[in-house]
Amino acid sequence: MSISPILPGSIADLKAQPAAHSAAVVLPLPLGRATPITGELICPPDKSVTHRSIIFAAMASGQSRIVSPLLGADCRSTIAVFRALGVQLELAAAAAGATNTQAELIVESKGWDQWQSPLVPLDFGNSGTTARLLTGVFAATPGLFATCFGDSSLSKRPMGRIVTPLRHIGAQIQGRSSGTLLPMAIAGQTLRPADHVIDKATAQVKSALLLAGLNISGRTNVRLPSGSRDHTERMLQSLGADVKVMHRDGLEDISVHGPFRPTGRTYRVPGDPSSAAFFAVLAAITQGEVKIHGVLDNKTRTGFIKVLTDMGAKIEQQPVDSSRELFLEPIMNLVITGGHTLSAVDTDPLQVATFIDEVPVLAVAALFATGTSRFAGLGELRVKESDRLAKIRELLTLAGGEAWIEGDDLVIKGHGGTDRPVHGFHFDPDQDHRLAMAAAILAKAATSPSHIKDPDCVDVSFPRFFTVLGTIG
Ligand code: S3P
Repeated sequence: MSISPILPGSIADLKAQPAAHSAAVVLPLPLGRATPITGELICPPDKSVTHRSIIFAAMASGQSRIVSPLLGADCRSTIAVFRALGVQLELAAAAAGATNTQAELIVESKGWDQWQSPLVPLDFGNSGTTARLLTGVFAATPGLFATCFGDSSLSKRPMGRIVTPLRHIGAQIQGRSSGTLLPMAIAGQTLRPADHVIDKATAQVKSALLLAGLNISGRTNVRLPSGSRDHTERMLQSLGADVKVMHRDGLEDISVHGPFRPTGRTYRVPGDPSSAAFFAVLAAITQGEVKIHGVLDNKTRTGFIKVLTDMGAKIEQQPVDSSRELFLEPIMNLVITGGHTLSAVDTDPLQVATFIDEVPVLAVAALFATGTSRFAGLGELRVKESDRLAKIRELLTLAGGEAWIEGDDLVIKGHGGTDRPVHGFHFDPDQDHRLAMAAAILAKAATSPSHIKDPDCVDVSFPRFFTVLGTIG
């Protein structure tokens, strides 16, 4: 078995990766399900933790180092935004042939209070995390004025969910459609402490309000349904902020006492479970064994392991001793052994937040299972990088599957145990990175070639996805 280095060649600068493919990637040699897939890969760095590390490093006065940052397009948007505010972010020179897991981002900041108002509009690109988290931060930065915009996908995504609570505590934000959509203009103010109540398990809204709370005198509390990723509060605790976390009756209360300023430090970014999920599913629906090294081990992110295990997949979670490596959270290796019969699953709507980004590829697994699966309570998927609910249904149908939407539920009739083949397809992922990667996994297990439009969109979260897929698959 060989270890595939992830992201070689991305060290030199922060520009987009050279296009690996043109308008469409054709996967002319589908493996079918009988081919053994065997190999090892180092999990690409986590997108959520990279964004947050950059934000905390920019808030600190002095130098911070971010070891093995994700350099996908979304995180490059966050980097470019802080550069426009006068923060210096540079990649440390790395030895020739170094892999991304050895890259280091050096951040030099004069501190949160010294950010300059940008002279140009800030481009959030495709990144919802950049848009939501930084709107909270900028709204709470007195004296800062910023205009911001995103690409055509981000411009459709709801911003009212952060603008409304922020306005409630004194934020001055103007934007298209009464401030519910980008572009927006933010004039930073001194905001008031408050108890916020959110009706969805969303880490982006929770984090935007907690980050704003770092510059508010007094305690900011956010109450929301439990389950959303908890990196913001974990990282703040490790930075020494006064953060309280309480879980009761399916709700969580997270509060922070401001003002608080992080100090410069080293962050080491663990592997992204959302990226690992593609290869976990590929291994589970075929034969052989795949080992994924260095995956973030956090229950708010690994719901997909439970879903796959409930379906009958064999996944071993091997703890890794990372205590001396400055990871802020534990990591593990995953070993997925294929060749096991998968059965249909009914997922718990209260757990959706723990596998929200993995639904596209879990739906692919369900297509190969025996019986009819139901993924309940997926309303949020309609407002992701694309309308993922509709697009997943489209993808499965194009491949010869039967899938339909009932309210906010996705129902998938599995092909397992039938003689109906999952065949090749032509699919337009609507520039949505996770749909393109889920389609590629499906294509690998199909019986005839498939075409995926605009495959370079995977650069958002997993820049060398197709290279790794070629090595493993
Ligand atoms: C993210 C939170 C999730 C997730 C997104 C990243 C984050 O969104 O879907 O990819 O880093 O906070 P929501 O919080 O809106 O569910």
